[in-house]
Amino acid sequence: MKRTIIAIDGPAGSGKSTVARTLAGRLRVAYIDTGATYRLVALRALQMNTAVDDVAALERVASETMQRLSLINGTELAIDGVVVGAEIRTPEVSEATSIVSAHPEVRRVVVPAQRALVPPPGAVVEGRDIGTVVWPDADLKIYLDASPDVRVSRRTDQQGSSDGMAQEITERDQRDAHRPVGAMKPADDAVVIDTTSISADDVVVRIVALLHPAPPGRLYKIFRGTLAFLLKYVFRIEVEGAENFPKHGSAILAPNHRSLIDHFVIGALTKRQVWFMGKAELFENKYAAKLLNALGAFPVKRGKPDRASLQRCLELLAQGNLVGIYPEGTRKPDSRFDEVEEGFAYIAVRSGAPIVPIGMSGTEAVFPKDRKLPRVVKIRVVIGKPFRLTAQTSGVLPRTKLREATAHAQQNLSAVMEAVEPR
Ligand code: DC
Repeated sequence: MKRTIIAIDGPAGSGKSTVARTLAGRLRVAYIDTGATYRLVALRALQMNTAVDDVAALERVASETMQRLSLINGTELAIDGVVVGAEIRTPEVSEATSIVSAHPEVRRVVVPAQRALVPPPGAVVEGRDIGTVVWPDADLKIYLDASPDVRVSRRTDQQGSSDGMAQEITERDQRDAHRPVGAMKPADDAVVIDTTSISADDVVVRIVALLHPAPPGRLYKIFRGTLAFLLKYVFRIEVEGAENFPKHGSAILAPNHRSLIDHFVIGALTKRQVWFMGKAELFENKYAAKLLNALGAFPVKRGKPDRASLQRCLELLAQGNLVGIYPEGTRKPDSRFDEVEEGFAYIAVRSGAPIVPIGMSGTEAVFPKDRKLPRVVKIRVVIGKPFRLTAQTSGVLPRTKLREATAHAQQNLSAVMEAVEPR
């Protein structure tokens, strides 16, 4: 039976446990704390005086511990049926866990046991490598992060003492992020949420919204259905990589742009509603504005930075929607992502949303200049694997970082163009 998995990764103090536990309760699925599984192995190793670098012995300890492990009431981990308590949360165990869990041999034993814990209909699973290694095909992947100061103070509140906490967390972050297997990092298709200044409840609300964005209206469905029919049976559109379309959660759809019909081709690719920015002038007429709104367009003033439309875009992404943005800004007859606008990268960095690269070929020939009627031509679309730019959802974003992000985006986008229309 297919189980629904929501992966929540992130460093210590990012709010993972509170958020994951609350979310699981709200969704009525199990809650699995994978950090606790490694903590149990480390605790057992400490009790048995096993050295943290004796890999063969640790492998045995891990295997024996995993055999005794179970999940009680869908939320509590137990050893031989006894629920695990605060004994796995001491600073000594935290440090040992980070070292023990870095051994690939230990992870090879623990990861399958973590997978086996998930009961139907599913679970919210928290850890460091859930979206990347344990459940790479999770239904939704979230990566929580927060400023180091806030993370240290959250942990201090939990444990009642701040002695050495900053150092402990920094060292653990370093080790967790740089180990060869199962390193802590956001999956390419994860949504990054900065929890520095939002409460755990608000984070849960945002994640629930990512799972269930508002469904498209009737007009949108009719319009989309008609277009999808035309593209499929008249234009015989060829689509490669449809499986790369995110089923849940926010994403930026990033197509090259050669024709006015591009919005419609993109909209027809998925039953999920796609939002697009449209020239502000199109919205001047009240009725046109209504129709455009129903079709998922929102206004943008061109030629100058438009804070309102940027805000709307970030808001739509925060609510779990798909937003279409042309990385090159405007339409170009030979568009193939040769230049990418910094504004595009800015939205990706600020929203933490994954980017879905889309290469289109053929749309430029549908409305030739010398003819009134459209031409039926072959349209080919390649949807690439989603990728992410390093997220920074708050604080000052240095220009150099934005430039790097833009270059990174351009590289990934060009690759998909090469796949649909090699030079
Ligand atoms: O989430 P936590 O603080 O309880 O995790 C304790 C340690 O376990 C963490 O420093 C690294 C390790 N861990 C891991 O390697 N992979 C996971 N999926 C979860 C935790």
